[in-house]
Amino acid sequence: MNKLCLLGLLVGLASHSALADTQSELLKNKDAFVGDLLKQMTVDEKIGQLRLISIGPEMPQPQILKEIAAGRIGGTFNSITRAENRPLQDAAIKNSRLKIPMFFAYDVIHGHRTIFPIPLALASSWDMDAIALTGRTSAIEASADGIDMTFAPMVDISRDPRWGRSSEGFGEDTYMVSRIAQVMVKAFQDQGANAPTSLMASVKHFALYGGVEGGRDYNTVDMSPTRMAQVYLPPYRAAIDAGAGGVMVALNSVNGVPATSNTWLMQDLLRKEWGFKGVTVSDHGAITELVRHGVARDGREAAKLAIKAGIDLSMNDSLYGQELPGLLKSGEVSQAELDNAVREVLGAKYDMGLFENPYLRIGIASEDPADTNAEGRLHRDAARSVARKSQVLLKNDNQTLPLKKQGTIALVGPLADAQIDMMGSWAAAGVPAQSVTLNDGIRRAVGERARVIYAKGANLTHDQKIIDYLNFLNFDRPEVIIDPRPAKVMIDEAVAAAKQADVIVAAVGESRGMSHESSSRTTLEIPASQRELISALKATGKPLVLVLMNGRPLSLGWEQQQADAMLETWFTGTEGGNAIADVLFGDYNPSGKLPVSFPRSVGQIPTYYNHLSIGRPFTPGKPGNYTSQYFDEEQGPLFPFGYGLSYTDFSLSELTLSSRSLKKGDTVEASVTVKNTGKREGETVVQLYIQDVTASMSRPVKELKNFQKIMLKPGEQKIVRFTIDEEQLKFYNTQLQFAAEPGEFNVQVGLDSQAVKQQSFELM
Ligand code: NOJ
Repeated sequence: MNKLCLLGLLVGLASHSALADTQSELLKNKDAFVGDLLKQMTVDEKIGQLRLISIGPEMPQPQILKEIAAGRIGGTFNSITRAENRPLQDAAIKNSRLKIPMFFAYDVIHGHRTIFPIPLALASSWDMDAIALTGRTSAIEASADGIDMTFAPMVDISRDPRWGRSSEGFGEDTYMVSRIAQVMVKAFQDQGANAPTSLMASVKHFALYGGVEGGRDYNTVDMSPTRMAQVYLPPYRAAIDAGAGGVMVALNSVNGVPATSNTWLMQDLLRKEWGFKGVTVSDHGAITELVRHGVARDGREAAKLAIKAGIDLSMNDSLYGQELPGLLKSGEVSQAELDNAVREVLGAKYDMGLFENPYLRIGIASEDPADTNAEGRLHRDAARSVARKSQVLLKNDNQTLPLKKQGTIALVGPLADAQIDMMGSWAAAGVPAQSVTLNDGIRRAVGERARVIYAKGANLTHDQKIIDYLNFLNFDRPEVIIDPRPAKVMIDEAVAAAKQADVIVAAVGESRGMSHESSSRTTLEIPASQRELISALKATGKPLVLVLMNGRPLSLGWEQQQADAMLETWFTGTEGGNAIADVLFGDYNPSGKLPVSFPRSVGQIPTYYNHLSIGRPFTPGKPGNYTSQYFDEEQGPLFPFGYGLSYTDFSLSELTLSSRSLKKGDTVEASVTVKNTGKREGETVVQLYIQDVTASMSRPVKELKNFQKIMLKPGEQKIVRFTIDEEQLKFYNTQLQFAAEPGEFNVQVGLDSQAVKQQSFELM
């Protein structure tokens, strides 16, 4: 009996047996174990391990079981309960020759059963504990459902809000996204990817997916090496340094070479330079797409390019299975190249603890939950607390907010009672019926104390093209529910409600599908149907609060003029309605800050704050005169990076530096005193930016280098200190060396990226 068969027999046996000792001996050394297993595998079994398939209508279950038993599938994704995954694992462990366990993956992005705010919203919290709680809770729920790996975190920097996947990332700033990347990986993998409540993190999309030209999904990325190194690559690196076991390779090309066939990316950079030891996985169908990218003549060449470049697992692609046997026979792909890929897949399974116990996360049938959605109720407090922290108060004239729990509130808008939209895109196994809408949340918050009149007021859009697109996104139910009544009738109903009310709360923005994979937009406006509603509401003269739900920065210049208050809630998740009500009524004082700049119009893109210095910057107060500007638009973003209001006020003292010079190996301390000058307790985010004034190449006008979120009682003040060292001053120069250059540095501290206090020092 070979060792693996022996291992198979061991599964399920009592741990304190003599056999168990043999097992643990065998499993002690990963390299030896994997190497030994490789020797026993046939070519077909090896190729089978590289195949990751999606559970769905394309392949019926009996066929999948047969394929697994024949050793032709390495893992699956999209099967999301223990009961679904167990027979698949049984097929591998009981019926396949070598009993190599399967693994089960899923897109657990911002929650599993309990849905947390979308990633862009999580970043708005600037609260690493809240983000860690999201990752940990997701891992606990998903692993309890028999899932071993998540295709997350997505750490693609996005500076173009037209890109629908902006919702799925953490914004435009490299430092911020890198920190979150680390936090998320650690939260998913917790005590190690082999812990029963851990998910192996597969960071994505390697690389530069957020840089697609024109914000059009799947488009080309063409980028200078310094921008790559400085801005786009560090978050992936941060995730890998934090121990991410997997890397998902992007669908786009990088300077003309598709990531999927990019040897420089996967070998030189990822493995050699960064020392990545885990498994790479292609994105959905990406190997086949090499033909359409125009770099492979046919499927055979596509498979050859992908495996030679370094794609280990092929996601929903039959090409490895079809083509690798022939490629090996002809010698175009070597045995060593195949073995390298298989070694990584087996290594990942080892790291996920599956050789030791293939049922580590699936457990035993008698312990399966009677209601798989039960987790969605257990973790609601966590979801609510994170959702409160993720909202950003954009405007609040005349203290319109917080609202009083009295009088009459008109609640209107197509998103005021939309369960599915609360969850945002990539809502994993979230159950729309469990999500709390704003209508539910407000009613629960006010109870009998206030009257709430609800009227939808408008459909999400009346553009049939958009409706058709959104409904196409969802396979089993309409994504957008359209009220058949004429627009005027709906608006009249909302206006009638508004006229009876003391305040209007209008939930407007995008449906979740509008900020999703492939959902790129040419405009960043709220759809016309909703703008017509807003106009009519404004005309009533009643205080107007816009509760914004959207997955990308929108151009809100017009809305800002109509509304008395605007609260950016993004998509808040299962507990969204309660969490928004917490903020609207002041049970929670908003503390979120934007992790992206909001442009005034689509033509202003890109508006990211950390742009390079240029020769003719726009100079406020001196319009025109051949400076860099749009002459038909106000300059700068509508809302800058780092911006967000509170129900209290904060003041900032002048900035003090401990020294005007910094010697190598030394530090400078920057400190400010922050005071709560208002009447409520509140949190704010103190942000540290640095500018390298003169260097061997143009450097950003400022870059976020650190931040602290602090809580202050009314009248309370705190000194916030930041330590600056040489490491924070380093950048990739034209030779791609990461080094700090002596000279002057500006230090800026503020409560957003624009209103800052500044001092400078010299790096000696
Ligand atoms: C395609 C997406 O680009 C990727 O992010 C996702 O993980 C896979 N589909 C699997 O769902």
